[in-house]
Amino acid sequence: MTTPLNPPKPHASIILGIESSCDDTAASVLCDGKILANVAASQSVHEQYGGVVPELASRAHQSNIIPVIDQALKQAGISHEQLSAVAVTQGPGLMGSLLVGNNVAKGLCIAHNVPLIGVNHLQAHVAALFIDHEIALPMLCLLVSGGHTQLIWVEAIDSMEIIGSTQDDAAGEAFDKAAKLMGLGYPGGPLVDKLAKEGDATKYPFPDAHTEGLNFSFSGIKTSLLYFLRDKQKEDSAFLEKEIRHICASYQHQIVASLMKRLEKAIKEKKPASLGLSGGVSANSALRNAFVLMGKQKQLPAYIPDFAYCTDNAAMVAMAGYHRFLQGDFTSLDATPYARAAH
Ligand code: KG4
Ligand code: ZN
Repeated sequence: MTTPLNPPKPHASIILGIESSCDDTAASVLCDGKILANVAASQSVHEQYGGVVPELASRAHQSNIIPVIDQALKQAGISHEQLSAVAVTQGPGLMGSLLVGNNVAKGLCIAHNVPLIGVNHLQAHVAALFIDHEIALPMLCLLVSGGHTQLIWVEAIDSMEIIGSTQDDAAGEAFDKAAKLMGLGYPGGPLVDKLAKEGDATKYPFPDAHTEGLNFSFSGIKTSLLYFLRDKQKEDSAFLEKEIRHICASYQHQIVASLMKRLEKAIKEKKPASLGLSGGVSANSALRNAFVLMGKQKQLPAYIPDFAYCTDNAAMVAMAGYHRFLQGDFTSLDATPYARAAH
């Protein structure tokens, strides 16, 4: 048998990632684990309602998704024919939104005869940490998003276990609901974060909830803000306007303290090799500072994704999908999206 003079290079693994679980339509192209393109179209239509309106989200995904995918492929310099697989967020999320991404992904798979990889959105947020980072494992990951607040024990990018969860609201929801109460826009997290930078975080103490084990609870702090504002505004109708920076700083301070308290407890119990922070709320500046400090105090590497991979994005979906692709772990074309985490 003769060896060809110029043997073809082993085929690169090129994954198209698609994310449409909530209100961001996103596509990303990943080649052998490296991000070539990461494109997202956010939906401003929800701002006027102070929250995501599911039907409007589905309609916006429908008009955005093909242009977003085309742009990602163009930026990456990749044609449809070069794709090795399509990874898509299968759930949890809004059903109408998920259906748009999943059906487009299936159409591409059928058209180009490549496998479909249905990715769990929460696992994708953890996979975001593996983009551009060599992670020391096992890692203890604090996942904080608009819909979830969890402590996750990560043995590998595709092997993880939830060891703590919120009993009611997620941390991101606590930010968003507070912003709504104070008449700020949506999503509220970044707005509270911005105002908090100019406020005194110790001025107004807010309570932490009592929870069992490594669980979280954020519905109490939101209610305490509601009553606090009602009482103070009775005394002085201009109270909110005058004090908003201190209120934001104090409220944010307590959310961060509640998160750090459970993280520290989990570190003591589980003794991880590293720490991770992911999900949309990981863009919060006070949380990032507290998390980095925790890593220093515990002498553990503390990883946070690049800003582009904190809030919902398709690069994290492609990254989770890439590892599944290498293992040949594919999803059947008759699989349906799932709205809830436990399905
Ligand atoms: O992960 P993500 O983009 O979507 C979900 O999977 O839910 O997270 C969105 C959440 C929203 O609640 C938003 O207010 C929050 O992340 N968020 C922030 C910041 N940036 C985004 N919360 C606090 N501070 C921020 N800078
Ligand atoms: Zn998310």
